Amino acid sequence: MLQIGTLPIDTPRLSLRRFTVADAPAMFRNWSGDPEVTRCLTWPTHLSAAETEEVIRGWVGQYGCGNSYNWCMEWKETEEPVGSISVVDLCERAAWVEVGYCLTRRLWGRGIMTEALIAVEDFLFREVGCSRVQAKHDMENPASGRVMQKSGMKQEGVLREYGSDNRGDAVDLAVWSLLRSEWKAMGRG
Ligand SMILES: CC(C)(COP(=O)(O)OP(=O)(O)OC[C@H]1O[C@@H](n2cnc3c(N)ncnc32)[C@H](O)[C@@H]1OP(=O)(O)O)[C@@H](O)C(=O)NCCC(=O)NCCS
Repeated sequence: MLQIGTLPIDTPRLSLRRFTVADAPAMFRNWSGDPEVTRCLTWPTHLSAAETEEVIRGWVGQYGCGNSYNWCMEWKETEEPVGSISVVDLCERAAWVEVGYCLTRRLWGRGIMTEALIAVEDFLFREVGCSRVQAKHDMENPASGRVMQKSGMKQEGVLREYGSDNRGDAVDLAVWSLLRSEWKAMGRG
């Protein structure tokens, strides 16, 4: 893998770029402070923009490490941060990465996360040289599974009580992946 870090990615409706602390109010308003968005995530809903700012400060520090992939999804029409997509785990030796994402509720159902995930998969295969991109979702969150499917991933199975939600309850997680060979066969290589 070539660890090039979070470089900008352009899609028809989105600019994917690094976070800055100035994104905190919009991120809090649009997703981190919304219990409906964080319902199936591992981290609890933020209680203030200050809490969100602290989290972003940590992410900004990690950009210096080189192997941090964490994009703010900026909605081109308004230049507003509307979500995030990032690498949440990676194995350098086997060249796989795991991605996670979230989007403001008011833009759900318009294909936006699928657009972002396809662009990030293309970046991770083409620029970083991954051999596998994977993602997991709570079985209570089928919309996320549909995003994975639409981006070209295949479901591999369900890990029973593998995860824990943001209330600490055990949850079953579906595992999906896209292999480099499959990505190439789709003509995206
Ligand atoms: C999951 C999430 C990322 C989807 O983003 P999005 O931009 O709305 O996704 P898309 O519009 O690209 O696709 C959503 C698909 O799920 C489908 N869907 C929505 N609700 C569904 C449900 N309850 N069951 C099955 N499919 C559902 C939609 O119909 C759509 O499929 P279609 O294009 O075939 O109609 C967004 O809802 C979100 O941020 N949720 C909260 C955070 C989260 O769950 N993150 C993922 C953690 S694994």
